Amino acid sequence: MGAAGAVSALGCGGDSNSTPSGTFAVGTTTEITVGTWKRLADKHLIVGRDAGGVFAFGTICPHEGFDVDFEGSQCPASPNARTSTTGNLVCCSGHGGRFNGTGVVTGGPPTTNLTHYKVTIASGNISVDTTVTVPVAERATV
Ligand code: FES
Repeated sequence: MGAAGAVSALGCGGDSNSTPSGTFAVGTTTEITVGTWKRLADKHLIVGRDAGGVFAFGTICPHEGFDVDFEGSQCPASPNARTSTTGNLVCCSGHGGRFNGTGVVTGGPPTTNLTHYKVTIASGNISVDTTVTVPVAERATV
């Protein structure tokens, strides 16, 4: 299984990056299937789905605000890249911070997880409200 969608080049602007505030349509449950992820570069969001449902987290690193992206695109690939919610999935170009597929920090310098946002699903359409943060374990059931 792989990450859904294109991975685009990033702006590495440290603190100048931010996740926009609002509710955004991010895809469908047909597009984002179990074990896949989609990165929305313009929204600084990654949307993923595991057996529990759909989740979304911001790509702004809690260390110094650089964007994270799928491992292999800007950081050395790991054997677990894009195949696991427990191994490394995304990493930070700033200073090499690493996170798993649910946005949980797996390697420093960051000491906290990526920020998770409220996901809603209506008629198979997935939206993310970046004005509402939620616990890492929260899922929108499909
Ligand atoms: S900004 Fe991400 S590791 Fe420093």
